[in-house]
Amino acid sequence: FHPKTLKGQHWVITAGPTVEAIDPVRYLANRSSGKMGYAIAEMAARAGAKVTLISGPVCLAAPFGVNRISVESAETMLNAVQKSITKDSVFVSCAAVADYRPQEVADEKMKKSGDDGLVIELTQNPDILKWAAQESGAFCVGFAAETQNVSEYAKAKMERKGITMICANDVSRCDIGFSCDDNELQVFYRDNDHVKTQGIGPANKALVAEELIQLINKVRQS
Ligand code: C5P
Repeated sequence: FHPKTLKGQHWVITAGPTVEAIDPVRYLANRSSGKMGYAIAEMAARAGAKVTLISGPVCLAAPFGVNRISVESAETMLNAVQKSITKDSVFVSCAAVADYRPQEVADEKMKKSGDDGLVIELTQNPDILKWAAQESGAFCVGFAAETQNVSEYAKAKMERKGITMICANDVSRCDIGFSCDDNELQVFYRDNDHVKTQGIGPANKALVAEELIQLINKVRQS
């Protein structure tokens, strides 16, 4: 990357899982290592962008030159995104946001009660990407982790959320995706009235990030 490729641009990237508290010691979460989002943040910074990385709990160091904001729940992630993005930003929504959170969070550690099961009532979390697409004016890129009908579901998701670009990956495969160092993406993007597609990888997540950034930059400027 030329260090001036993204000069003057502000990229906001979400990464990792969100964790939704049940009580002080337990939570619900999604599977996500954060590696893909961190790779995009690192490469965007190397290409000269100002980068804000809004991250759920992961075991990764903040990449050099990146401003990391650490969050836990979907609501705190939404809050951080709302404070960070403007209409001129590029927003890459890589986080595995929990769709639901426990309706009530217990103040004290919950105790086992006899041999009975346990019912936890869940309430829906806000959709951060949908908010960004509808309210912020930023150029929005989503991810779609699917285990079947990957391209159909991804295209439908792009419509539903009102975004310009979506990166689909098949998380049912064990050689790419979750926790792996490699990934393969099928990117769909709007071009006037058409939906175009481009494959990226399989390759190391750093290389995938580099190609994806180039594609985002091209589509955004077209
Ligand atoms: O609807 P689904 O979760 O499959 O959509 C995935 C995309 O939407 C990802 O880009 C993810 O980061 C984003 N998302 C979000 N807020 C949610 C759920 C998903 O930003 N509550």
